Amino acid sequence: MAGPAAAREVMGNQRGTFMETSDFFHVRNGVLGPRSAQIEIGRAARSLIRHRLDAHRADLPRLVAGRLVPTSTWPDAGNLLVREHLRDVLLCPDAPAELHKAVDGIITRAVLAGARQRHSVMSRLLFRRRAMSALVQEAQARRRAGVAEPRDLLDVAVTGAGLAVDPGEAAEVYLSFLFATVGSLGFALGWSVYLVGTHPDTSTDEPSWIVREALRLWPVAWLFARRPSREHELAGVTVGPHDEVNVCLYLVHRHPRHWERPDEFEPRRWATPLHDPAFMPFGFGPHTCAGATVTMTLLQDLISIITRDWHLSVTATGNGPHLGPALAPPRFTAELHARGATARGGE
Ligand code: HEM
Repeated sequence: MAGPAAAREVMGNQRGTFMETSDFFHVRNGVLGPRSAQIEIGRAARSLIRHRLDAHRADLPRLVAGRLVPTSTWPDAGNLLVREHLRDVLLCPDAPAELHKAVDGIITRAVLAGARQRHSVMSRLLFRRRAMSALVQEAQARRRAGVAEPRDLLDVAVTGAGLAVDPGEAAEVYLSFLFATVGSLGFALGWSVYLVGTHPDTSTDEPSWIVREALRLWPVAWLFARRPSREHELAGVTVGPHDEVNVCLYLVHRHPRHWERPDEFEPRRWATPLHDPAFMPFGFGPHTCAGATVTMTLLQDLISIITRDWHLSVTATGNGPHLGPALAPPRFTAELHARGATARGGE
């Protein structure tokens, strides 16, 4: 589906014409349930991240200076910066050192763009078994000890809104959190930096416009599969339980009837508030992303610091976007020079 109306019909599922599903809460034996627990887990995660962002907002300029100056290699730099800023929320400092190592390994072997091609199948399989077993053991230990107040996203997955979540399933939901935070959020940062760096005239635009326009052109979550629950008509086509309906946000977000110059990066199109149905980077309907607002906050804060304090230049070093379950930016190098320093240098 490339049309906004049909895409909303599929994702909103108001008539119940599609099977109820959730990629995020997908676990070995189906989907972690009940739905009320999924909603509570999403809320608890959002509130944990929100708290962390509010408490550590003042650290961001130093983080940017320390990680991105003078040069950085993307998209990994975006993922690793997000990991650094959310480190204690991803895994609390008290967690066993072995588990910290396992989570770092999951990030480098599975979350980073092209990670799968960087390691052999055998090494990935062996690592995955070890890392999952470390996560499940910790989930078991935390469940036995009881979690009063969640300290990190593993606690959120283990407590499962008061449900006794199976430790294996909690570990799988925890992986979804790693992919959403370090992965999706890091890639979205990469796209914003890449686009503003390759369109220097936009660097003085509002950070919120830059981020939205980057998410419109290159929606990190770009493809959704749904299965009809019964035969019905969708956008003039009959679909049924044997079909898989795919919604492609990349096409929805560039729909020529909704966007002028749809393929151009024009942050200023967001200067007047737009509520276009052809924009849904965080999904639509009951499963809309629980992390949307915290994601936007962090992205806008970072883009604001990068464009306000630094001159940014970007050199592409790869062959275009990396297409996987997430749409990751191409490989590129970013150079940051302090605005004051460049002005003095030019005198
Ligand atoms: C750029 C970053 C992100 C993007 C583009 C994104 C996108 C999405 C999309 C499109 C969905 C709907 C999936 C569907 O309908 O099947 C979703 C669901 C979800 N996201 Fe995100 N996400 C991002 C970051 C995050 C973060 C940081 C969190 C952490 C709290 C998060 C938590 C969730 C949860 C819990 C769901 C499931 C919601 C439900 O089924 O109730 N996401 N996300």
